[in-house]
Amino acid sequence: MPYQTLQKRISKIVMQDEVSINNRLTSICEILQNNIDYYDWVGFYFANHEEKTLHLKAFAGEPTDHTVIPFGKGICGQVAVSNQNFVVEDVKAQDNYIACSINVKAEIVIPLFRDGVNIGQIDIDSNTADPFSENDERFLEWVNEQVASIL
Ligand code: SME
Repeated sequence: MPYQTLQKRISKIVMQDEVSINNRLTSICEILQNNIDYYDWVGFYFANHEEKTLHLKAFAGEPTDHTVIPFGKGICGQVAVSNQNFVVEDVKAQDNYIACSINVKAEIVIPLFRDGVNIGQIDIDSNTADPFSENDERFLEWVNEQVASIL
């Protein structure tokens, strides 16, 4: 499915004020996971800045044990601190990586900003090697902006 069609579907979900935020986030995860073949697990983590931890709020794919991640740990925890996109072509080449499934080959984590503050992130695991391009980064930045607008 082209990005434009996905953007239309995501925009519609975002506008459904009668649906809870959690259910809207889950729908966004499901649309992404179902329609982009190399998106095998999609989740949103949100930060607790006092405790310096990330908390899984919505996801699509296999359930994970890693529902709470300390800042600095793994790819997700590093993005909580760096405020930068993190594209991992090959997870095996990363020292500071938390494995969720042995099938995962690559990962992309894009921080989610509200009022300039890094409040969370979208995290995508892929079972395909080196699948992510700048198009994914731009698209997922857009997804995060949509989500930030309803938080
Ligand atoms: N791989 C992540 C942990 C979260 S799982 O991918 C769902 C990391 O290294 O932070």
